[in-house]
Amino acid sequence: MNGKTTVISQAQLDTQFAYCDKIAAYWLAAGRTPAAYVETYGCQQNEADSENIRGMLKECGYEICQEPEGADVVVMNTCAIREHAEQRVFGNLGALTHTKRRHPEQKIFLCGCMAGQESVSQRIKMSYPHVDGVFSTHHLWQFPEILYMVLTSGRRQFYVADEPGSIAEGLPIVRSSTLKAWVSIMYGCNNFCTYCIVPYVRGRERSRKPEDILAECRELVAAGCKEINLLGQNVNSYGKDLECGMDFADLLAEVAKIDGDFIIRFMTSHPRDASRKLFDTMAAYPKIAKQLHLPFQSGSSRVLKAMNRHYDREKYLDTVNYAKSVMPDLVLTSDVIVGFPGETQEEFEETISLIQQVRYDALFTFIFSPRGGTPAAKMEDPTPKAEKNRRFDRLCAVQNQISEEIHSGYVGKTFRCLIDGKDKDLLTARTEGGRLVRLAGEDSLIGSFRHITITGSTTWSLTGSLAD
Ligand code: SAH
Ligand code: SF4
Ligand code: F3S
Repeated sequence: MNGKTTVISQAQLDTQFAYCDKIAAYWLAAGRTPAAYVETYGCQQNEADSENIRGMLKECGYEICQEPEGADVVVMNTCAIREHAEQRVFGNLGALTHTKRRHPEQKIFLCGCMAGQESVSQRIKMSYPHVDGVFSTHHLWQFPEILYMVLTSGRRQFYVADEPGSIAEGLPIVRSSTLKAWVSIMYGCNNFCTYCIVPYVRGRERSRKPEDILAECRELVAAGCKEINLLGQNVNSYGKDLECGMDFADLLAEVAKIDGDFIIRFMTSHPRDASRKLFDTMAAYPKIAKQLHLPFQSGSSRVLKAMNRHYDREKYLDTVNYAKSVMPDLVLTSDVIVGFPGETQEEFEETISLIQQVRYDALFTFIFSPRGGTPAAKMEDPTPKAEKNRRFDRLCAVQNQISEEIHSGYVGKTFRCLIDGKDKDLLTARTEGGRLVRLAGEDSLIGSFRHITITGSTTWSLTGSLAD
């Protein structure tokens, strides 16, 4: 393993388990079962981290509850990707002064990506005295220790030292679903796209060992899991820091070789590193969903260069064309940023034309949000906000029309789908490409793969009925 990655040792983990035991004993002596609430913001990586936080809380004797009111512990697992995400957290954190007033024993923690920013921990120190602890993603595995210190020392705890990052295997986990699982295969990011805060708050890229990932996947499948989602900020650079001779395509193939009826998805792929080998592997294994989330960010090669994306419009289109050539039914989704500093009207039109050329099933659209400490935040940005909003609305309208057209093309076709839950009176299912289908049916169907014929469509979802 590359020297920069610290693997948390068993002895270090044992220390944390010992803190769990002490906290459980503390509550036993208090004569009641404590409750904990975890709120998650941001991406799947945070969802996955929250499952570990819940696991550690359970190990400490807490029951997981569904609202902050009355909880003994509240954990806000936060996202720093855009200013709006942070404002929401500060707003909700402010509201916790009331739950704490009604339950003065309540201990409040802020963690996740926002906690990796010095400015945020300073602001919490100065202006949010009701917050008892702050810890960045690097210190997640130390949560039992942090909680113990808060409970017993009466002092606020800040575990926010900046670090290149570590890997902790074997943390306790409470998964949100038995059907679908998040499996982080790597952490951090080395790409430093000029607009993005992630490398600053989640540290350098580090890969879990293939044997640890495969063991986790095997265990999940044996326990009845039907969908495995492999997670990383840039899964295509998996393994570069390990000396195991395995790249992401190899790992994907190994997961697909596990016996059992399940489907594999992954995100996110960086277009620079998305190789032909990856697409050939996807095409070769029926268990790998023919779904690709390949963020393009901008259709202009000049803007892509300013974003430090390391590909241009032509290379991106070549990549997509190859992927579609080996997987004709590929469902493509992407992320795009409107109003990057200095984006001209013509450059924005290039984004529109790329969308029209590729025809994504769905897009995640964002207006550029300057993030302190990133190079783009210092770039000149003469485009007025109102103009950015106009571009954003136009882009959404173009994409909605395309999504609607693609979705209406599904009507009359039959797809094998995983029926995964319920929304009001209808069952919900996902096609292999990840599109949402609603259908009538018995609850007992949840958890099974069934063939569903699509009977109707909207911009965002499909309706269907059982074909078999
Ligand atoms: N690692 C993933 C994306 C992580 S963030 C990748 O590289 O694709 C998810 C999306 O948020 C990004 O793809 C980008 O479109 C958007 N985003 C990131 N930083 C942003 C910023 N400062 N302003 C607006 N959107 C941003
Ligand atoms: Fe951010 Fe770029 Fe890394 Fe994605 S690849 S997390 S956008 S720096
Ligand atoms: Fe947000 Fe952190 Fe994910 S900044 S998007 S929660 S990696």
